[in-house]
Amino acid sequence: MHRRKPRQSVEQKFKGVIASVAKQSPKFTGLLHALHLEACALLAMTIFVAMKDTIFTKNFAKNLSHFLERKNYSLHFILMDENTHQLCLPILQQEIQDLASATRIEIYAGEEHKNIRAAEYVWQRLTEEKADRNSVLINLGGGMVCDLGGFAASTYKRGIDFIHIPTTLLSQVDAAIGGKQGIDFMNFKNQVGVFRQPAGVFVHEEFLKTLPQEEIVSGFAEVIKHALIAGDGLWKKTVSIENLTEVNWNEIVSDSIDVKLAVVKKDPEEKNLRKVLNFGHTMGHAIESWILNQHKTTYHGHCIATGMMGELYLSSSCLGLSEKKRDEALTVIRKHFPKIVFPESEFDALIDLMKQDKKNEHGTIRMALLRKFGNPVIDVEVDEMQIREALKFMMEQNEG
Ligand SMILES: NC(=O)c1ccc[n+]([C@@H]2O[C@H](COP(=O)([O-])OP(=O)(O)OC[C@H]3O[C@@H](n4cnc5c(N)ncnc54)[C@H](O)[C@@H]3O)[C@@H](O)[C@H]2O)c1
Ligand SMILES: [Zn+2]
Repeated sequence: MHRRKPRQSVEQKFKGVIASVAKQSPKFTGLLHALHLEACALLAMTIFVAMKDTIFTKNFAKNLSHFLERKNYSLHFILMDENTHQLCLPILQQEIQDLASATRIEIYAGEEHKNIRAAEYVWQRLTEEKADRNSVLINLGGGMVCDLGGFAASTYKRGIDFIHIPTTLLSQVDAAIGGKQGIDFMNFKNQVGVFRQPAGVFVHEEFLKTLPQEEIVSGFAEVIKHALIAGDGLWKKTVSIENLTEVNWNEIVSDSIDVKLAVVKKDPEEKNLRKVLNFGHTMGHAIESWILNQHKTTYHGHCIATGMMGELYLSSSCLGLSEKKRDEALTVIRKHFPKIVFPESEFDALIDLMKQDKKNEHGTIRMALLRKFGNPVIDVEVDEMQIREALKFMMEQNEG
């Protein structure tokens, strides 16, 4: 009689792969497990390595020069906004002399210009300068320039290569990574766009030196988010930061990119798992919209940091995240971010904004929350009572 061989668990089957992942990139294994990616460890790792090959976080000048030499593009175009033209182009041209003859395209700075008119202007300049299918568009700027440039290049002549050189902290750890390119349309953010990977992403700490401090603080919210999702070494490094003016960004940015990549690789077109990247964003976006609706200005990251406070509370009340860990994260947020306050009379308006979030269906509110640091859970349905409690908790934190 045949005895069936006991079924090997997926984990056993991929033991070797996971071990080699651990060896190659120890900070990464925890996340793979946390996301229950064991079955796909091999596939995810293969894609991860392929995409990682195109992201350079060290030796900026050497890597970019070699890359351009190898690609042998027919024409180089550099897209910038007015600020990155003035502050970042001199650094780029000093480091890569070959780009001295590149054609420059300048657009206005600011989210309000991430629109079809600016994209049309890029297509126009590419056409006038006879960009062919073997030309490259180099996006030198923050998330606005990367998103818009990536979209314009992806659609010009059915797609030419583009390179991101992200110059804000937010774009280095978030916007330039993951292959989402797009523009705003009719007051909807990122309404029109494509999924397309850049030919290369080149990160250089030097660009952060001219970035206004508030932009650094704002970008740091995404670093905290990644650290909480990954929950390992990056969280320890994040906790140990005392002053955002004195950070060696290279390592933090590189670790943070790895977290986003790990998630994106498993779900490149945002069908499911990529939702873990929304941690802090359901409440954070509502706060951001609420402030913008009053014609006041704010920073995305500051709102997300406040949103994370509320979602940390919900992680404890809905998923049992320990209060000790919750408070550890709250301390980090309070240390670096200005307080955002709103009266209880605005809770209804905020909840309405959360319901409008495109990720929710039929008036329910779903969030990505944390069971533990490094163990995110997507699509957790949260009721209004719980959200009210979380908003109250946020206010107590911010008033105290
Ligand atoms: N594609 C994605 O996956 C993704 C993810 C997150 C955010 N985004 C997008 O990213 C955008 C926000 O990106 P952002 O925060 O980088 O904003 P941004 O590109 O508008 O830059 C912020 C400001 O900093 C200036 N700036 C840029 N680099 C500078 C430097 N080195 N020194 C001095 N000033 C500099 C810019 O001119 C601008 O005024 C939004 O449009 C958002 O939708 C996209
Ligand atoms: Zn964000």
